[in-house]
Amino acid sequence: MIPKNLKRARSFLKRALRKAPRKGGLPDGMQFYRPGRRSELNAGFQTYYRENADKISKGEVPARYLKIAKLVPGERVLEIGSADGTQSLVLARSKSLVCGVELMPMQFEEACELRKKWIKNGEVVERCEFRNEDVLTSTIDLDGFDTVLMSRVLYHFRDSADAMLEKIAQSKVNNIVLVGCPIRERKWREHGVSGDDMGKYAYLASQEGMESVLHEHDFHIVSSFSSEKGDDPIVVASRSL
Ligand SMILES: C[S@@+](CC[C@H](N)C(=O)[O-])C[C@H]1O[C@@H](n2cnc3c(N)ncnc32)[C@H](O)[C@@H]1O
Repeated sequence: MIPKNLKRARSFLKRALRKAPRKGGLPDGMQFYRPGRRSELNAGFQTYYRENADKISKGEVPARYLKIAKLVPGERVLEIGSADGTQSLVLARSKSLVCGVELMPMQFEEACELRKKWIKNGEVVERCEFRNEDVLTSTIDLDGFDTVLMSRVLYHFRDSADAMLEKIAQSKVNNIVLVGCPIRERKWREHGVSGDDMGKYAYLASQEGMESVLHEHDFHIVSSFSSEKGDDPIVVASRSL
């Protein structure tokens, strides 16, 4: 029989290992995510998706997705970090082409399943495709899009955020829509670099941080929404080429 405290030590070790970030051998970004229950690395689904998954599978989406969709200009949209796929699918209802790129296999699979369900329900979203790729190393042709959307994503790139924006600036993309995070923004405002586990990158989750990096890459701000009421800060920027 295994003594009780040995059992406890074992389960403690298991839990600690599950929580430990893995180093080396992972594509950019993945090392920031922890293994989930089935040991796959994932960032977890956002609360607004998890809590509404049943309704979303029937095409009934929370207001945030509709609000963001209304603000996205252009006809051909690339959503970077498309996760469960809801936002890309909502966009596909009105756009001529939508591509959602997602690093995590679990999120990517969820998005593909959701797409199938929506099509089965009669939604015309065939023009939405999903790709399971790391956008930082992907060979995806940005010139094929008018608009890039990154919702709660830019700060996850940490020191590659600027390179990502530069890659977009070098392409024919005319519009960028950035959605930040009100919680990270508040922590950054209240405590600076020590407030959030993103450190200095939490600035990129704030309205002014998003506006500032977009200016740096020669996009002008078309509209900008604060997180005052607890909503996600959103910045829409454009340029004419
Ligand atoms: C916080 S979630 C936001 C999900 C969704 N856009 C939303 O607003 O609810 C960030 C997503 O970006 C994805 N991501 C992070 N780095 C990425 C990369 N290098 N390439 C593609 N996707 C990435 C993550 O896997 C995750 O699904």
